[in-house]
Amino acid sequence: MCGIVGGVAERNISNILIEGLKRLEYRGYDSAGLALINQGQVLRERRVGKVANLADAVSESQISGSLGIAHTRWATHGKPTEENAHPHISGNVAVVHNGIIENYQELKDDLEALGYVFTSQTDTEVVAHLVNDALKTAPSLLEAVRKVVPQLKGAYALGIVHTDHPDELITVREGSPLVIGVGIGENFISSDQLALLPITNRFIYLEEGDIARLTRHTIEVFVDGQLVERPVKELDATVSNASKGEYKHYMLKEIYEQPEAIKQTISQALNGNALREDFLASAIEDFSNIQQVQIIACGTSYHAGMIAKYWFEQLIDMPCQVEIASEFRYRSPVIVNNTLYVCISQSGETADTLAALRDTQKRAVAKNLNITTMTICNVATSSMVRETNHSLLTLAGPEIGVASTKAFTTQLAALMLLVLKIGQIKQTISEDQIAKIVTELWHTPKVILDTLQNDKEILRLSELFVEKQHCLFLGRGTHFPIALEGALKLKEISYIHAEGYAAGELKHGPLALVDNDMPVVILAPKDDMLDKLKSNMEEVQARGGELFVFADEHSGIKGKDRQHVVNVPTVDPILAPIVYSIPVQLLSYHVAVLRGTDVDQPRNLAKSVTVE
Ligand code: F6R
Repeated sequence: MCGIVGGVAERNISNILIEGLKRLEYRGYDSAGLALINQGQVLRERRVGKVANLADAVSESQISGSLGIAHTRWATHGKPTEENAHPHISGNVAVVHNGIIENYQELKDDLEALGYVFTSQTDTEVVAHLVNDALKTAPSLLEAVRKVVPQLKGAYALGIVHTDHPDELITVREGSPLVIGVGIGENFISSDQLALLPITNRFIYLEEGDIARLTRHTIEVFVDGQLVERPVKELDATVSNASKGEYKHYMLKEIYEQPEAIKQTISQALNGNALREDFLASAIEDFSNIQQVQIIACGTSYHAGMIAKYWFEQLIDMPCQVEIASEFRYRSPVIVNNTLYVCISQSGETADTLAALRDTQKRAVAKNLNITTMTICNVATSSMVRETNHSLLTLAGPEIGVASTKAFTTQLAALMLLVLKIGQIKQTISEDQIAKIVTELWHTPKVILDTLQNDKEILRLSELFVEKQHCLFLGRGTHFPIALEGALKLKEISYIHAEGYAAGELKHGPLALVDNDMPVVILAPKDDMLDKLKSNMEEVQARGGELFVFADEHSGIKGKDRQHVVNVPTVDPILAPIVYSIPVQLLSYHVAVLRGTDVDQPRNLAKSVTVE
């Protein structure tokens, strides 16, 4: 969602803010703005569209200042227009905001009654006016913000500056991520540390409810008006791993990074062909008590969870449910004793998943239930990692492309490690079986590398999708979720309507859609379901559908008229969904490039969905 950057320094920070916004653009990119305090004035520029438009405006107007806030927007309240772009100003106060102020209408009515004039349709503008109003009686900017915060309902992160306080940046974290970047003689804030990596690797991760006051030389964090200590953490992430390198798009780079990302992710848990003894060691007691697993996630992460359900049940006899977080959180699910609740999230900040987790924890405490929570996540410092009992990191490195690729396959690798660990503790899987799967896991990066060799062929096939309006993806077993994932990838970046189905469901409805103009993508690993899948392919062909089959090289499926086959190297059926993710990612990528869409920043979407 929206991205915030701010800073207080001795030097002009306009370029730092712009560079920060560019690195945050994955969070929202419909408009951007910046405000600098300079000699008692707020200098503001805002532009519709990408940060590049704002950068041009700033370089033209040459505005500068050593205190400032900046914002890249993903519209929630009000269209993406210049008036609605942040920062919003009231009197001498400027505000940037990520999140939603749910009671903004009520507050707006009150403020209008007091004579405040609104110039935007945003919920954010109320915050600017409220702080301005509070300053009539509050002795300082900090106190004014402290007076305003209890009036705000919702989830938000704020950055606030005032013309009379040229060395002071106030920030608030309440439900939306915010970090402080600690510099030497200068300090910064951001929604994501990624924005600040070029200037510091020292961060303070604010907790929910924290209000902080930054000056050039000091950082004070307050909870309920009391000063609290928050540790400074040093990060070893480098700037370079967040750049596109030689690739045309982040998404393509991230697709190609998968062999290495998986290797990194499994290396933390494995010693030769066995699980390391210290892998998830602190969870052993908790895991030994669990009777079932409940996975909660959204989007692509939810698809990873769906595959893990097959693994939990087939491999280690552990009952497993998977649910979309936005449903789970609102349907009052029964919280069951001795359950392991697993959140899967690339960002660890997805609003629905986080809310589902918090709600589950609350309800378990209220009913005195013994549950265990854990997160599978790509961001070590995220809210979910901090708020669950245990965590397992996907070591994929920053994922910038909005469409998740390497985060997904590393989630799958991590989930397999979790399944093996729990099975080992519960003794529902033998050490021999573990060793066999681990051997295959080590082999997976090489199989993915070989699969990537099909890139050119997939590009050639993708030309046949460019003019299509609709597409079906079919798979069985663990490849049903891959069919869903393939359809999600295609629709989100190429804007072609796509549906994923369990192939066995074909004749229960979707077969009616199949005609000469309907491409049908088939995922055909060499597993127990292959013959049944071949029958489904016949059903499609008989109705004139054109088949695009990603098939095991020994599946016996051959190319023929209206049946295009891409051979995928043979892989153990258990781990095949990791490998079959690659061709569907490449297909979506190439179709999107050919259709000329903005692959890394598709319309209407944002990377980290911190509002519900
Ligand atoms: C699709 C995609 C989204 C995310 C979803 C959850 O390519 O990336 O569907 O998977 O928004 O995000 P995380 O994993 O950060 O919780």
